[in-house]
Amino acid sequence: MKTIIEPFRIKSVEPIRMTTREEREACIRAAWYNLFTLHSDDVMIDLLTDSGTSSMSARQWGAMMTGDESYAGSPSFYRFKSAVENLMPFKYLIPTHQGRAAESILFTVVANASHLIPNNTHFDTTRANVEAQGARAVDLVIEEGKHPELEHPFKGNMDIVALERFIEEHGAERIPLCMLTVTNNSGGGQPVSMENIRQTHEVCARHGIPLFIDACRFAENAWFIKLREPGYRDIAVADIVREMFSYADGCTMSAKKDGLANIGGWLAMNNEDWAVSCRNRLILTEGFSTYGGLSGRDLDAIAVGLEEVVDENYLNYRIASTAYVARHISAIGVPIVQPAGGHAVYIDARKLLPHIPPLQYPGQSLAVELYTQGGIRGCEIGTAMFGLRPDGTEVPAQMDLVRLAIPRRMYTQAHMDYVVEVVTEVFQNRESLRGMKFVRQPKALRHFTGRFDYVENPGTSG
Ligand SMILES: Cc1ncc(COP(=O)(O)O)c(C=O)c1O
Repeated sequence: MKTIIEPFRIKSVEPIRMTTREEREACIRAAWYNLFTLHSDDVMIDLLTDSGTSSMSARQWGAMMTGDESYAGSPSFYRFKSAVENLMPFKYLIPTHQGRAAESILFTVVANASHLIPNNTHFDTTRANVEAQGARAVDLVIEEGKHPELEHPFKGNMDIVALERFIEEHGAERIPLCMLTVTNNSGGGQPVSMENIRQTHEVCARHGIPLFIDACRFAENAWFIKLREPGYRDIAVADIVREMFSYADGCTMSAKKDGLANIGGWLAMNNEDWAVSCRNRLILTEGFSTYGGLSGRDLDAIAVGLEEVVDENYLNYRIASTAYVARHISAIGVPIVQPAGGHAVYIDARKLLPHIPPLQYPGQSLAVELYTQGGIRGCEIGTAMFGLRPDGTEVPAQMDLVRLAIPRRMYTQAHMDYVVEVVTEVFQNRESLRGMKFVRQPKALRHFTGRFDYVENPGTSG
């Protein structure tokens, strides 16, 4: 059959509060045109993030009831351990409350101010945790990955030649580890091929540099390998995952993505000395080594989530629904990052709104309009997020995008049809969209709490 149905039935539902355009105009004005400031029950379709927003299955909720809250040695930990090791068989496993905690522990232990960490593209928390140690985070994604309009099946690939050159230039002794982010979130949720993982491993191994995978969306990456890479069509996703991790010496993970859980993460590795130091750090900052800041029931939810996320019917539906939105909005001429990533569709707001200069935040204007028009909450990833420099001056970001991130198992086909309809409506009225300005902004991470208004409105700065 051509129709890919949601491979689940719905037994428990959450109401969506239906709002009118007038109500939404009042809500967004009261929120100073910042979508992070909105109350989420004033949002109809929440595409702010795919992180921690998955719907859990009846099996996961059932497993939570069997969660054991013993401080040390809980059976929940051993169920979690066996589910992780089934896919990623590293020698040492350290649970954490989310991905950035795993990154913080890892880089506190392995990095210092003389170090450099290469990655295809660092996610912002990964970069921040590298830089918190005084080390330098360097992105070496292939050239195709830097151009939204270019089609390439694996735009998240590491530039192997650049990596080799980078190691020769700086010396392996200054590179405690190399990372590879699958899928490449900051580069548009684009996958990394198995061949590229293998080649990255070979270069690293030749220089004695451990390779760590940022594994947040490992299952979505494996599905893309199955669909797009010669030789993998008949291989089970779980086996593809095992092969991906066989080339690595460790990983960091946020279970809020492909763990299908609302919280959780881990750090895993083969190096015993590092593992001992990381566990000590864990006990200092997160909790004992068999719970790492999580409750036993969270560990059980992750254990079941890891079985469900490699289900091929689930992955087929998941990636098809992202591609569906991308295909339909791109067919009417909306410029998007091509091809669609695994977890999100990225609209190129700079291209869509050429009459709004980057320093008037076309991405923010588009995100606000999607909300006002249809109650859809996306996220500006552009000049409002990245354009402010530490000295207070502003420069346009590399791109002005609006990310529509799709939570796992939460929305149906009709919701996606609605998203397409709202984007179409906004696209048709694009010339009426107006530039924006900050009327109040903090010095760092201004997109979270800053206040906006339209440029032509009299300033209420301060
Ligand atoms: C690629 C990547 N790495 C790391 C993280 C950090 O994970 P967490 O939000 O659980 O701290 C994220 C979260 O979005 C991510 O997308």
